[in-house]
Amino acid sequence: MKTVVITGSARGLGYEMAKVFKQNNFNVIISDLNLENLKKAKENLDSLIQTGNVELCVCDVTNTSDIKALIDFAKEKFNEIDIWINNAGVNQPEKAIWDLTEDEINTVINVDLKGTIMASNLIMQEMIKNKKGAIYNIEGYGSNDAMMLGLSIYGTSKRAITYFTEALAKESEERKTGVIVGKLSPGIMITDFITNALGNKQKINLSEKTKKVYNILGDYPDVVANYLVKEMITNTKNNAKIEWLTNKKAAWRFMTAAFNKRDFFKD
Ligand SMILES: NC(=O)c1ccc[n+]([C@@H]2O[C@H](COP(=O)([O-])OP(=O)(O)OC[C@H]3O[C@@H](n4cnc5c(N)ncnc54)[C@H](O)[C@@H]3O)[C@@H](O)[C@H]2O)c1
Repeated sequence: MKTVVITGSARGLGYEMAKVFKQNNFNVIISDLNLENLKKAKENLDSLIQTGNVELCVCDVTNTSDIKALIDFAKEKFNEIDIWINNAGVNQPEKAIWDLTEDEINTVINVDLKGTIMASNLIMQEMIKNKKGAIYNIEGYGSNDAMMLGLSIYGTSKRAITYFTEALAKESEERKTGVIVGKLSPGIMITDFITNALGNKQKINLSEKTKKVYNILGDYPDVVANYLVKEMITNTKNNAKIEWLTNKKAAWRFMTAAFNKRDFFKD
């Protein structure tokens, strides 16, 4: 049986990916900040899906010793880690760059960017010993240079994640480590993320214009996870980009928007 570790997986995309991996008979390690949330997530996964195994481990990705402990925990439970997904992420408060506090900036950069870099650094060392494994990092708004007021620091992190992931893939290839590295591009998902900044610390009020765009381009995370996980399971290529909301799909969604009756925000 293969093993996957997913950071930030008590809810949202991480949780939904855990579900699909379990359906596909994987050993799954879910990890997140809060033990109670992880226990609830494990309970749900165990009651919903009979295949695979789930173990949980608290891990704050801004804390290097937590990441090391997560790797050790996964090895102790299941020996080898086949897939590692740096999924944990936070949104930023919807403010101009100069209105953000240093703490707010640090939180976004430390979780979204540094957490992914440090976890990649540490898991790479493990996977190199086995000469195999796959690491996936999550792109987001800004990865393709798009800009929007109130998303500049998040976008800076995600733009850097794209560069970092490609650089890691190149180094891994050139040094013949046997480890593949790839990007997951989930598009827009209707999760707590879009209405909460810095975890759950600050609310984000979506404008009517933003809601309209999300109704056209957005999807619930289970739909996205289903696609991403199936692609990850079969992918053998280094530097792959597994993309849910392609330009073609987005164009189609806009063209057919008049027939789209979805309203994710009606309550
Ligand atoms: N929702 C979207 O529209 C969207 C779009 C593109 C990319 N993404 C990315 O997808 C990933 C998952 O997002 P989501 O929408 O499921 O968000 P979410 O807020 O539902 O889930 C994120 C999870 O990460 C956890 N987390 C936060 N800080 C952490 C830390 N320091 N250590 C460990 N875990 C931590 C949270 O507790 C939460 O369970 C993120 O990387 C996000 O940037 C989201």
